[in-house]
Parts: sequence; C-alpha cells; structure tokens
Amino acid sequence: MRATVFHPRLAALFREHLGQDVFRLEPDTVGVAGHDVADRILAARRATETERPTFKPLHGRSISRSEASSVMRTIGGDVREALKRTRPRPEDVDLSGSWPLRGHLFLRDLILGRDPYRLRILMSRNLELTPKLTWTVIAAGAALPGRVGRRNAPLTAIAGLTADATGYQERRYAMGMYRRAAAPVCFTVSTLVTNALWLGSPFAPETPNRHVLYEAMRLLPPSWNILRNASPEFAAIDGRIEAGDDVLLLPLLAHRDPKLWKEPDEFRPERWENLDPDTAPGYLPFGHASERCWGRHMVMPLAELLLDLIRGSGLEVAPGQSSAKVPLVGLLGVEDVRLTKVRRAAA
Ligand code: HEM
Repeated sequence: MRATVFHPRLAALFREHLGQDVFRLEPDTVGVAGHDVADRILAARRATETERPTFKPLHGRSISRSEASSVMRTIGGDVREALKRTRPRPEDVDLSGSWPLRGHLFLRDLILGRDPYRLRILMSRNLELTPKLTWTVIAAGAALPGRVGRRNAPLTAIAGLTADATGYQERRYAMGMYRRAAAPVCFTVSTLVTNALWLGSPFAPETPNRHVLYEAMRLLPPSWNILRNASPEFAAIDGRIEAGDDVLLLPLLAHRDPKLWKEPDEFRPERWENLDPDTAPGYLPFGHASERCWGRHMVMPLAELLLDLIRGSGLEVAPGQSSAKVPLVGLLGVEDVRLTKVRRAAA
C-alpha cells in the first residue's frame, strides 16, 4: 500500500470540506466543490484574460484569441510530428529514474530536441521556482545577438516563431510565448503520467491507458483548482457567495465526493468502462464543457505514449517506495516517484 502525503493545506481541504458543495475558505474567497454549483458558475461567463492559465497577458500585452489559437495550432503540429517519430514504438528508450523529471526530459527532447539551447533551457523545471527567474532567462536569451536558431536549421514550428522575431522586445515576447506554449506540454504530461504510475503501477495488462489516465486525473487532478474572480453573476447562483467573493472551484474535492463516486478514494480505472469523461457529473480535469482545455488533444496521446513505453519495457514504481509527497503548487502532482525494472518470477 502506497501512502500519498498531501501538503498540510491540501490535507486540510480534504479533512474540512470533502462532501460539501459551497464553503468559505477566506474572508473574500468561497470554495465550490458541488457539481451543480460548479457547473453553473463555469457556465455563467468565460474566463477573463487574467484567469486563463496559458494565455494570460504576456509582458503586459494581451494575447488575442486568434493569436492564442494560432500558437496552439503551431505547437499542436510540432507534437503531431513528434508522435509520428514514435511509430512504431521505439524499443531502446530507458525511462527508469525519478519522475516527473525523467518524463519531462524525454518529452522535451522528443518534441523540442532540434531547438537551440537558448530556447530549450526555457523548459527547465527549475524555472518554475520563481516566475522572476524565468523572465531573467528569457531576457538574457533575447539579448543575445543574432537570430534564435540558425537559418535553414530544422527548428520546431513553435521555435520558428521566435526565429522570425526581430529586435529585443519582439524576441523577448516570442520567447515568452515559446515558454507559455511548449512548457505546459512537458510539465503537465509528465506530471499526469507520474500521478498515474504512483496510483496504479503495475497496471493490469488489459487496462487501457485511457482509463488509467482518466482515473489518475480523478484522484490527482493536475489542475486541482480553477479560479474565477468575483463577478455579479455568482451571487445570484448561490446565496452563500457574496458580491465581492472570488470563487475557487475545486475538482480535487469534487472528484472524491462520495455522493458522486463509488469507493471515491480507490484507484479503479475500470469505472471508466461505463462512464463518459466528458459528461460524468463533477468531473472537470480539463475544465468545463463551455471551454475545455485547448491542449487536451495533445496531452492524451503523449501521456498514452509514455505509458506504452513504460508498460512495454516492464518498468514499475520501485517496490521499496512506500510514500511520496504532493506539494502545494499550481500543478498537482506526486514528487520523486522512482521507476525501475522489476523482474517477476514466472507464474
Ligand atoms: C494534464 C494536462 C492539462 C490539464 C489537466 C489541463 C487543464 C486545463 C483546465 C482545467 C483548463 C480550464 C481553465 C479555466 O477554465 O479557467 C484548461 C484550459 C486551457 N488549457 Fe489546459 N490543461 C492541460 C494541458 C494543457 C497544455 C499542454 C496546453 C498547451 C499547450 C494547455 C492549454 C490550455 C489553454 C489554451 C486553455 C484555455 C484557457 C487559456 O487560454 O489559458 N493545457 N486546461
């Protein structure tokens, strides 16, 4: 039995609010985990530009929807190209080691491996430590003379956007956009797969990767909270929300609500045989039906690729590892899960 050790603030959320629908978290913040209220709040209006996780303003410049969708198409094309290179599945990949770092580096090299160092360094996990550090590295890279990447050198299309930028300000903006669009692919997918491994590895051979992933996102949703700043519509939806209250929607709690799920704390991928992840009440790993995550069509095949490679090469969570921590960060995930090859005696 593996122990998942949640940060004390997360553990307190479970302890104090599991099964509640609307509750006060702070003098100016209300938590929402009830699926009906959550549904109405998310349907009430679109996320504003500062609430959007990926395309919030960059260096004070708003990112239009058309620019955002063009950047998403570009990184989507790079991911498709990378996926093509993994068919048939490579057999010589060693994904043992500490996750999510191992998965992050594999994805960075697979998708962005042809890009110059000054762009690839933007994918460093250490940069998450402080946003300031990220911007310092971007500013330093943008200040280097010359284009980003050699002319005619094979870059990813997302790096091509930075290569075409001229002047320090434009280059800095383009590099910020590279980080915004490319980093989540490596960060979120490696986190999601780590969570799945921790919860269920080794998986039964007949269990489809999709079910493993849906169930992992139920118990450990990488996007564990969704913020909506105070809005007049919200007080009309539920009297416990006051006009000035921000609302923190908590898939982390909704996904374990005993009113919605049988054996809510158990990892049961087979429950997805009869459930539709797009319509299961209270299941919001990719946000609300009114505007679901734009990256999910990249996330799922990449996560399935990683699981295929891991399952195909006989890697499992090290049998001696019995506990792992979940820190309090924006992207909810288990830290330092050690994957090793386990030899099993023939049955
Ligand atoms: C495990 C992986 C991921 C999860 C669980 C996830 C989850 C979410 C959620 C919950 C939302 C809705 C946010 C809201 O309504 O406020 C969202 C929106 C969005 N996601 Fe994802 N996401 C993932 C990966 C990605 C990746 C890799 C990208 C881009 C490359 C991406 C791009 C977006 C965009 C563009 C939006 C729309 C709002 C915005 O502009 O930021 N996501 N995602």
